[in-house]
Amino acid sequence: MPTFATWLKSSTQILKAVSASPHLDAQIILGFVTHQPYEKLLIRDQTSLKFSQLLRATYYLHLRTRLVPIAYITHRKKFHGHTFYVNKHVLIPRPETENLVALASKHAKTLPKNPNILDVGCGSGCIGLSLYYSTLNAKSQEQNIKSPSLLLSDISEKALKVAHKNAKKLKIKADFRKSNLLNRINIENIDIITANLPYVNKNWNWNSKSLKHEPPLALFARKNGLEIIEKLLTQISQKPRKTHLAIFLEADPSQMPAIKSFTHNLFPSAKITIDNFVAQIIL
Ligand SMILES: C[S@@+](CC[C@H](N)C(=O)[O-])C[C@H]1O[C@@H](n2cnc3c(N)ncnc32)[C@H](O)[C@@H]1O
Repeated sequence: MPTFATWLKSSTQILKAVSASPHLDAQIILGFVTHQPYEKLLIRDQTSLKFSQLLRATYYLHLRTRLVPIAYITHRKKFHGHTFYVNKHVLIPRPETENLVALASKHAKTLPKNPNILDVGCGSGCIGLSLYYSTLNAKSQEQNIKSPSLLLSDISEKALKVAHKNAKKLKIKADFRKSNLLNRINIENIDIITANLPYVNKNWNWNSKSLKHEPPLALFARKNGLEIIEKLLTQISQKPRKTHLAIFLEADPSQMPAIKSFTHNLFPSAKITIDNFVAQIIL
């Protein structure tokens, strides 16, 4: 059987053709099959792989050479300090989305009460669950304060199952709703809406190699990528809602001027702030 050292060396060599981080990918795969923290696996480690570990490691190496993202191999992705379960039915949480959570969390802390949160297009649930967690921690010291509430919604039943699993893992009591945007959702009591909806325009020169393993339903939208975001904003404008409802949307920075003017037409007195990939809208 190969040792950890020889497996790491040969796998790193193989992955050089397909990955920008071949050694790290090899370490993560080896750590995953041997149940060890990958950071501790050393290039000189002379421990031998067991046959069953070698079989699994070889299979995962093969998947990685086919450009399957590491997160879909290990079913884990770190986001905002938590490890989320992911599978091929959900988008892999992105680092830029952490800023949306940070901005929404900052806003939540300015509210007199814990907010009722709605995460539309929740996927793995990473936004809503992280926001709930940080909001809860911020006010947990105070007595007799009602906990925040969280509704996670998605058009995909399979994505909702993943969100449910993550809520259970984080011990968060959330509600789940299968809905095409707000079709089946009443927002009367909602204080904060977060939404990282599909915004990729198919005509963009996007890095198709890794995205091809992620669900198209999570990525693409028509009308320059803005169709679904605009539908959500329109639905919000047509529903009874709280006066200072806050909406946090993710989109590409190049789409922000269009989102800003669309929002301004629907809600002339809204306060709109753009921060990289995030549009913060306070009605
Ligand atoms: C870009 S992914 C984001 C997932 C997650 N919020 C995140 O940030 O990682 C978009 C999600 O929106 C969902 N979605 C797409 N169209 C939708 C619609 N019309 N109504 C509700 N959810 C939708 C997809 O199923 C997918 O889970």
